[in-house]
Amino acid sequence: MTAGRFTGRAAIVTGAARGIGAATAARLAREGASVLLVDRDEEVVARAAELGAAALRLDITAQDAGERSVQEALDRFGRLDILVNNAGISGSRPLAECDDALLSRIIDTNLTAVLKMTRAAMPHLTRPGGRIVNVASVFGIAGYPGSTPYAVAKAGVAQLTRQLAADLAPEGILVNAVAPGLIETAMTRDRLHHDSYYQSAMLHATPLRRAGQPEEVAAVIAFLASTDASFVSGEVVAVDGGWLTGRHPPPVRPLQ
Ligand code: NAI
Repeated sequence: MTAGRFTGRAAIVTGAARGIGAATAARLAREGASVLLVDRDEEVVARAAELGAAALRLDITAQDAGERSVQEALDRFGRLDILVNNAGISGSRPLAECDDALLSRIIDTNLTAVLKMTRAAMPHLTRPGGRIVNVASVFGIAGYPGSTPYAVAKAGVAQLTRQLAADLAPEGILVNAVAPGLIETAMTRDRLHHDSYYQSAMLHATPLRRAGQPEEVAAVIAFLASTDASFVSGEVVAVDGGWLTGRHPPPVRPLQ
């Protein structure tokens, strides 16, 4: 690891109370960033305290959530260099089983709130040098049965990444995304350990035959947020154990 890659830089990470967001906040803080952890869960306060970072408890779908987050970062750090749009909710439900309320919740949280958070941050990001890193999903790139609204929202996040990369390039702001595959977090843990069909289906789709850990996604987010990625923009980088690379036969032996 490169020590101090983010020294003097200020970051917002949404959905940072646990999972990929918490691992990302920890990674950025460890490498020197001042980090504002944003989450609706009260756990965010303890998580930030562990890192010597700042916390803001809010729901990213609330009115003015983007403006409040950005203002908090500016008040605390006096600058904003990095926005990581990570907060999201799972939506492993087929479209036919989504009522209007659930459909709105999935799209509002996973897509509309990302647009609004980004819109609020854009004018304040350091230029040149600002970074936006979005968390998309392999479900937003390749078809997979049973989660159409979630997949559509994540496809929107991937396209937002490409669009904004073009819009913001003249100002020296780079915009990228990660597309995680199966990552072991609160979002997946229960089904991974207690639903044998889910476990088998997800691991068969993953050539590395294991779930990724949040830290393995955080490492790629940190790369994209760093000057190491100075000539990378508009990319959606899969962090998926090989999920998107092809069609893989099941293992010879049954999974344990
Ligand atoms: P997680 O459920 O462990 O963490 C998500 C965090 O976001 C939680 O702390 C939650 O409180 C927060 N959050 C959710 N809705 C919020 C809202 N409206 N306002 C504020 N905070 C909110 O999930 P995980 O796995 O860490 O997910 C992070 C991102 O990664 C999500 O965008 C998810 O869709 C994406 N992802 C996860 C995958 C996985 O296998 N775990 C695979 C592909 C993408």
